[in-house]
Amino acid sequence: MEQGLFITMEGPDGSGKSTQIAYLKEYFDMRGIDTIFTREPGGTPIGEKIRDIILDKANGEMCDMAEALLYAASRSQHVHQLIKPALSEGKIVICDRFIDSSIAYQGYGRQLGDAVRVINELAIEGCMPDITFLMELSPEIGKSRIKLEYQDRLELEKLEFHNRVFDGYQEIAQIYPERFVCVNAGRPKEVVRDEIYHHIDRLLQNRGASCR
Ligand code: TYD
Repeated sequence: MEQGLFITMEGPDGSGKSTQIAYLKEYFDMRGIDTIFTREPGGTPIGEKIRDIILDKANGEMCDMAEALLYAASRSQHVHQLIKPALSEGKIVICDRFIDSSIAYQGYGRQLGDAVRVINELAIEGCMPDITFLMELSPEIGKSRIKLEYQDRLELEKLEFHNRVFDGYQEIAQIYPERFVCVNAGRPKEVVRDEIYHHIDRLLQNRGASCR
């Protein structure tokens, strides 16, 4: 059976990921390619309930390891119920955040280190992305783009936390250069879009655009 294509979008809060994901929807819609768009935390009914617990501003007392395990639990259900079955049917799956978010936010941001990789390797059952777009934007600019009243529990963290997350992302991208595409997200959104489209064009050409 043909294997699908697994694309993830990563980046700091406020880096314009959602806008670029909307452009990706347009890209695949225009070409009539059946593509699954999903997100983390969430993506399944159980995952969405976990998401509500994690992001709830009222849950300020949540300890760091519980947070990391909840993200991994949401991911495990997501991989099992949606991502793996779709990929084995040869579909394209585009996920707003995945394992690299946990490594960056919980591993580097919360400073839980390698434990985060270990629990996530259990959660993803070998299902690593084929390509990961990293939207690079300084946390200062990213945070200033999100109004205070809309900031969730993670977004409300101090700038030092977000700086560690950003440094973490850059380190991960250096460790896996064959998987990561780093995109300068400080430019106009159409310029960023065209750069991402260019990479997707190449990806589809390489696999003969046959995953429908
Ligand atoms: P979300 O509203 O989806 O943020 P965004 O629109 O920026 O993607 O909230 C997800 C938040 O959870 C975001 O601050 C990043 C954080 N996060 C982690 O800390 N670890 C993870 O594994 C994931 C998937 C997200």
